[in-house]
Amino acid sequence: MKGGLKVPRISLILTGFFCATVIILAYMKSPFLSYWTPSQDHVFQISPDYIVKDEEVVRERNRLGQSEQNMNIESAISNSSTKDKVTEELITNTEIEGSAGIPPSFTQKGGDLKALEEKNSSREQENEVAAPVNSADGPIANLTSASKDHGYNSAKGRWVTDDSQPLYSGFGCKRWLSAMWACRLTQRMDFEYEKLRWRPRNCEMEEFTGVKFLKRMENKTLAFIGDSLGRQQFQSLMCMITGGKDRPDVLDVGREYGLVKARHAVRPDGWAYRFPSTQTTILYYWSASLCNLTPINASNPATDYAMHLDRPPAFLSRFLPRFDVLVLNTGHHWNRGKLNANRWVMYVGGVPNTNRKIADIAGAKNFTVHSIIKWVDSQLPKYPGLKAFYRSISPRHFFNGDWNTGGTCDNTTPLSGGKEVLQDESSDAGAASAVKGTGVKLLDITALSELRDEGHISRYSIKSTPGVQDCLHWCLPGVPDTWNEILFSQI
Ligand SMILES: *[C@@H]1O[C@H](CO)[C@@H](O)[C@H](O)[C@H]1NC(C)=O
Ligand SMILES: *[C@@H]1O[C@H](CO)[C@@H](O)[C@H](O)[C@H]1NC(C)=O
Ligand SMILES: *[C@@H]1O[C@H](CO)[C@@H](O)[C@H](O)[C@H]1NC(C)=O
Ligand SMILES: *[C@@H]1O[C@H](CO)[C@@H](O)[C@H](O)[C@H]1NC(C)=O
Ligand SMILES: *[C@@H]1O[C@H](CO)[C@@H](O)[C@H](O)[C@H]1NC(C)=O
Ligand SMILES: *[C@@H]1O[C@H](CO)[C@@H](O)[C@H](O)[C@H]1NC(C)=O
Repeated sequence: MKGGLKVPRISLILTGFFCATVIILAYMKSPFLSYWTPSQDHVFQISPDYIVKDEEVVRERNRLGQSEQNMNIESAISNSSTKDKVTEELITNTEIEGSAGIPPSFTQKGGDLKALEEKNSSREQENEVAAPVNSADGPIANLTSASKDHGYNSAKGRWVTDDSQPLYSGFGCKRWLSAMWACRLTQRMDFEYEKLRWRPRNCEMEEFTGVKFLKRMENKTLAFIGDSLGRQQFQSLMCMITGGKDRPDVLDVGREYGLVKARHAVRPDGWAYRFPSTQTTILYYWSASLCNLTPINASNPATDYAMHLDRPPAFLSRFLPRFDVLVLNTGHHWNRGKLNANRWVMYVGGVPNTNRKIADIAGAKNFTVHSIIKWVDSQLPKYPGLKAFYRSISPRHFFNGDWNTGGTCDNTTPLSGGKEVLQDESSDAGAASAVKGTGVKLLDITALSELRDEGHISRYSIKSTPGVQDCLHWCLPGVPDTWNEILFSQI
C-alpha cells in the first residue's frame, strides 16, 4: 500500500510543480494569459439568480433540461447553428466573464463632467486642434492604424457633452431595443451618460441622421456578424435610423437570409430588416467566434462541434455577395470554459488542431481573427463595392473584482478617469495587426469606450441580483451609438 501511494504522490507533486512553472513562465511571457486564465473555471459557476435576469435564458434552461436530446439532434441535422446558439443562451449573461484584455493605462487622467466643453466652445477648440499638429503626443502624420480612413484617426479624440444626444429615447424603439439593454426601463436614475458625444481630434464627425444614412445606403445591405456586443451595435443602429419611433413600414426580411426561429429555439440566429423607401437592409447574425461550426458526428445527438478556426461562418460565406457593408466582431467568448461548454473542438485545415501555438486560447483567437480578416480580404476583389470592417474589442469594466467576485461598475460620473484618447495606436493591438496590409478596416472603438465605465448595464439589470453586475454590455442609448456614428463617417 505504502509503496503504491508513493509514486503517484511524487508524480502528483512533480506534475503540480511543472504546471505551476509552465503557468508562471507563460504568464511572464504573455500577459494575455493573465486575462484568459482566471475566467476559465467560472463558466459553470454562474449564479442561478443571475441567469434569471434574462427570461429567455430561463425558458431556454428549462427547455434544455427537458429536451436537450431533441435539440441536439435537431441542430445536428439543421444548417442553423442551433446548438451553438442554445449554449449561447445559457452563457449570454456570463459573457461579462470574458475578457477584453485592455491595458488600463492609456487614458489621460482628470477632467470631470463640468470641465467638458459645451458644443459652442468646443467648436472653437476644434479649430485649435485642427491646426497642423505638433502637440505633446507626437506627430499624427504617418498614421499606421487602419482606422485612419479619411486621413484622420477617429479613434483619437475626446468625449464632449452634447444636448443633441441621445439620438433616440431609451423608452422607445421597442421593436428593436431589447428591454434588458434599455437602461431607461430599469432602476437606473442617472442619465448623464446619454449626453456624451465623441469628437475625433482632427475633424468634426459628420452628424448622423437616419435620412442621410438611408440615402447613403440606398439599395444596400449592412451586416453585423459577431457576438452580443455586435447585437447591441445592431440594435443601436436600428434605433438611430428610426429615431426610436415606430416604423411599421420597416419589413422583417429575416426569411431571405434563413433567419427564422427554429421550432424549439428561443430566437433566430439573427435578424434582418429592410427600409422600403430606400431598399436598405440592416441585419445581424450571431456568430460568437467568427468560425464555421460543424457537427463532428451529425448522427450523434451529443456530438462535439468542429470549430474551424480557419473557415468563415457558413452564413458569411453564403451571403457575403449580398453585403455592401460588413462589420465583424468577436472577443468575449474566447475562453476555455465557453469552448468546453459549447463542445467546440478547434480544427485547422479540416482536422483537429495540433499546432501548440494555436492551441492556447489567446493563440486560437489571434489565429481566427487573422484568418477571418484574411479571408474577407481575399474576397474584396470579387466585390469591389464591399466595405468591410473589423470592430475592435469592446472593453469590460469590472472594478474591485471580476464578474463573479463582486466586481462593480457603478460609478455614475462620466469620464472620471479621463475624457481623451491621445494615443495613435489601437488599444486592440491584435485586431490592428490583423487588418494591417488588408482592405479590411479597423473600426477602432476600444480606447474611446474604455473611458466610459459608467455606461454599462451595471447593477440595473431588469432583475438585478445583489453582487452581480453587468460591466460588459452597454446601456442603450449609449456607447454603441458612437460606434455607429464612427461607422457612418466611414461608409
Ligand atoms: C445546408 O446548406 C447547404 C447550402 O446552403 C445546402 O446545400 C445543404 O443541403 C443544407 N443542409 C441541410 C441539412 O439543410
Ligand atoms: C451657441 O452659440 C449661438 C450663437 O453664437 C448661441 O445663439 C447659442 O445660444 C449658443 N448655445 C449655447 C449652448 O451656448
Ligand atoms: C512619414 O512617412 C514618410 C514616407 O511615407 C517618411 O519620409 C517620414 O520620415 C515619416 N515620418 C515619420 C515621423 O515617421
Ligand atoms: C436603387 O434601385 C432602384 C431600382 O432598381 C433604382 O431606380 C435607383 O436608381 C437605385 N438607387 C441607387 C442610388 O443606386
Ligand atoms: C456517430 O454517432 C452514432 C450515434 O451515436 C454512432 O453510432 C456512430 O458510430 C458515430 N460515428 C462515428 C464515426 O463516430
Ligand atoms: C497572430 O497570428 C498571426 C497570423 O497567424 C501571426 O503572424 C502572429 O504572430 C500572431 N500574433 C501573436 C501575438 O501570436
